[in-house]
Amino acid sequence: MIRRKVVGVGLSINEGKSYLLPTEQALKQALDRCIEKDPSAIEEVRDVLHGLHQTVSKQVWEHVVENVALSHPARHEIFKDPLTHRAFNKPRGYAGDAVMIDYLYGLIDGSDLDDESARYGLKVTMRSPSARAVRNRLRMIADRLSQKIETRTLPEILSVACGHCRELGLCDDLTPDAVKRFVAMDQDKESLELVLRDYPNKGVEPFEGSVSSLLKNRGPEGKFDFIYSLGLYDYLGQPFARKLTANLFNRLHPNGELVIANFVPNIRDVGYMESFMAWNLVYRDRAAMMELLEFIPDEQIKCTQIFAEPECNILFMVVSRN
Ligand SMILES: C[S@@+](CC[C@H](N)C(=O)[O-])C[C@H]1O[C@@H](n2cnc3c(N)ncnc32)[C@H](O)[C@@H]1O
Repeated sequence: MIRRKVVGVGLSINEGKSYLLPTEQALKQALDRCIEKDPSAIEEVRDVLHGLHQTVSKQVWEHVVENVALSHPARHEIFKDPLTHRAFNKPRGYAGDAVMIDYLYGLIDGSDLDDESARYGLKVTMRSPSARAVRNRLRMIADRLSQKIETRTLPEILSVACGHCRELGLCDDLTPDAVKRFVAMDQDKESLELVLRDYPNKGVEPFEGSVSSLLKNRGPEGKFDFIYSLGLYDYLGQPFARKLTANLFNRLHPNGELVIANFVPNIRDVGYMESFMAWNLVYRDRAAMMELLEFIPDEQIKCTQIFAEPECNILFMVVSRN
């Protein structure tokens, strides 16, 4: 008699020998079709990966990523998409570098790619819900910046983990005369150099440093009217994120505002991101966002709002100070 140990939905291990059940089979078939250059196959790969991610145990998921997804010859086809390739290989040593985000913003459009599959792969990644959400996030912060500049006299602004600070390109209102200072902080020197090169007339003050230094009371001096951070909290564990939130809040002037953005759990692209992009984020729902405020005394908070961008992939939390 064959003894079979089921370790999760879709994968069975038969005394050391594993074989595929329907969900992995569907993934394998979609990957086979990628090699045949069937244009719809990559979308199907994304959908099946999402389904698997949502249903199988962590152990089975890791097995599927390693033994079904990344070991399939279709990976060569999939890695032709330069954005997927960069995410997976992390040339700057960390996920989500600003060059990757420039791809998502459409600032590197792949029109120079010779290979048709590469162009198609990039197009698919670019039209995915998470990529659209990242572009929404940028537009929303640019609007908020304009609003702050319109409604406050010479505000002091801090962008935390600014990357290439592309919102500057969408915010005509931001000029050196319109703000007292605009500090752009990032750990990545190359990114800050690019900000100064691409936005020479915005009066940006770069600040090179890691957010952990903020907790050691290093960082830009003084207080700010508007502090925001996009694409950083998605990498921070909850204990550190709570301390950082309190630290940033304490850097606000009275009536100042802190904005934090974070991806929500269960997004459609999570399976593809965690497999072919090796891009694992810390996802937060509304409750987890509210928990970030734990170290801030209630009486110091004037108002908190949480809302999603139109794709409902990213939440914004806006906290204002009394
Ligand atoms: C996903 S990018 C987001 C960039 C930009 N805020 C945007 O929305 O386009 C993340 C940025 O966070 C920066 N970063 C990551 N960890 C950091 C840390 N511990 N301290 C400071 N910056 C950090 C990276 O260098 C990178 O530029």
